[in-house]
Amino acid sequence: MPAQRLDGKALAATMRAEIAARVAARTAKGQRPPGLAAVLVGEDPASQTYVRNKHKACHDAGLASAVHTLPASTTQAGLLELVARLNADPAVHGILVQLPLPKQIDEGAVIRAVAPAKDVDCFHPENVGLLAAGFPRFYPCTPHGVLQLLSRNGIGTAGKEVVVVGRSNIVGKPLALMLMQKPTAASPAAGDATVTVAHTRTADLAAVCRRADVLVAAVGRAGVITPDMVKPGAAVVDVGTNSVNGKLVGDVHPDVGAVAGWLSPVPGGVGPMTITMLLYNTLSAAEQIDG
Ligand code: GUN
Repeated sequence: MPAQRLDGKALAATMRAEIAARVAARTAKGQRPPGLAAVLVGEDPASQTYVRNKHKACHDAGLASAVHTLPASTTQAGLLELVARLNADPAVHGILVQLPLPKQIDEGAVIRAVAPAKDVDCFHPENVGLLAAGFPRFYPCTPHGVLQLLSRNGIGTAGKEVVVVGRSNIVGKPLALMLMQKPTAASPAAGDATVTVAHTRTADLAAVCRRADVLVAAVGRAGVITPDMVKPGAAVVDVGTNSVNGKLVGDVHPDVGAVAGWLSPVPGGVGPMTITMLLYNTLSAAEQIDG
């Protein structure tokens, strides 16, 4: 039997409607709409697409959104000046500086310059620390999207073997933290799972992956997760966004669909969930800042 689809597009629509209703309730009371400022430096086509999609999603859910586009030649000082202005702007609740940045700019310095209260990516070390300590201010968007995609499809992770392939700061590392944590009132999105993080230096990656009841692929290489690496019936979440001949494909080989019990498609799986969790964080930032 082919794998059941982990439909991120459908779940994102449901959750965006929930967010839009909460936003509408705030504006009906006379409160400012939650505002997101996205900063795009340079002309990377993938980054342009992501930022355009985020902007449209904000607009559709009733959030205010502004995109600040800077040339690829922008200096670090110029970018930091913009971030400082956005930090001080009361109409801006969330700031997202799209990565990667041009090489003359120190990414870490920019991440640390964003006010932690407006860091809706959850990239600032203060917010990473709060997440790791179990009382998060924000959940990082892609890991949160993965957890929601599993839990809202009735796939529990408590006590399960979960293997995360990939150790990036954006996905693998924070996702592993969230998956291993015990859910609490302060931190409800948690997995209670037995977590293994695998990566390019892992010996016998296939054997490690085959242990997984839930396998998350966040490698960034098209089709590297093949059917021999998947336990029959496992839930497989594909975080990959690889461009192959102009087509968006995941890290999971299509033949995995014949072995897995559940599989998230690319596109239409994790991608729409990531954007939805960004809206969720921008609303959450507005609630934390404005009340
Ligand atoms: N580049 C790739 N993914 C992301 C993301 O989630 N946030 C930002 N700011 N940049 C990215």
